[in-house]
Amino acid sequence: MNLVSKLVVRLLPIVPKGIVGFVAKRYVAGSKLDDAVRAIREINSQGASATLDILGESVTDTAKALDFTAQYIGLFDRIAEDHLDSTVSIKPTMLGLKIDPALCRQNIERIVRSAKGHGSSVCIDMEDSSTTGFTLSAYKDLLGTHGHVTAVLQACLRRTLDDISALPTEGACIRLCKGIYLEPRAIAWRDYQTVRRNYVAALDKLMRRGAFVGIATHDEYLVHEALALIDRHHLTRDRYEFQMLLGVDPELRRIIISLGHPLRVYVPFGSEWYAYSTRRLRENPAVATHVMKAFFGLR
Ligand code: FDA
Repeated sequence: MNLVSKLVVRLLPIVPKGIVGFVAKRYVAGSKLDDAVRAIREINSQGASATLDILGESVTDTAKALDFTAQYIGLFDRIAEDHLDSTVSIKPTMLGLKIDPALCRQNIERIVRSAKGHGSSVCIDMEDSSTTGFTLSAYKDLLGTHGHVTAVLQACLRRTLDDISALPTEGACIRLCKGIYLEPRAIAWRDYQTVRRNYVAALDKLMRRGAFVGIATHDEYLVHEALALIDRHHLTRDRYEFQMLLGVDPELRRIIISLGHPLRVYVPFGSEWYAYSTRRLRENPAVATHVMKAFFGLR
């Protein structure tokens, strides 16, 4: 990131929410479930599946964590009623991890049971490194008991190749991403190329171990490497899928689908869109610059 980009990103917190919302709305389906359902219908009609994410994180109130759990359980009925091709994605800190890990574990299990009852599936998003141990342990337990669950590994973390070695050899389902949280250098690779190389090494290892892999990236270089690995390992379409975020590089999305590969789009919605949107904008200072222009333009 160059100096100007760094400055833009640092100034984001002083930009009024309305302006951030205007520029960031491409990353969020809307504030209501109906908005997300509309977005998923469109995605499904383009030949892709979806995963539905209710926005929210770092919940410190038990009633709120239980309410989010109930909302998630309700999503499976709506997915079935509307015949949507969609799973769901959850965040442990939204379901009470910061309050009590046992409560969070119970809430996740209730959602996974509901997914199983509907023949659907739950992906447990990976948050910052303080949650990695809990998340992987809950994932392995629930995979063994119920199935219908996916975990996320982050190529930026130095531990990821070891975490792959510790996965069950049967039925592992993993989304692999670079990792969006800023982690201390002692535990995370910082250099862009090194993270890419670790991503390819992790993807290769997951494929060799027979895991189902969600290749979550918009990085054309990694898409290229993933296609080569799919070919080298003779993977059939039921062993992998590409995954992309709503609003990011729809052209690459169309190219991957047109090549005949399965692709899933991550569709976030809900009233708590601000933290998610600013994370996305920090990731792409070119877009953040539009926010600043709009800000100063208005002033
Ligand atoms: P990179 O950041 O290098 O982006 C490659 C190219 O994509 C850029 O050059 C740009 O063109 C485009 N691009 C990327 N981000 C953009 C943006 N915001 N706006 C516009 N263009 C953009 N992380 C995590 O820590 N835990 C998780 O659970 C998940 N889950 C998850 C699910 C899915 C489906 C995806 C695709 C990603 C995640 N991530 C995540 C986020 C992930 O870790 C990572 O931060 C982003 O995917 C960006 O990394 P890329 O691999 O796309 O490369």
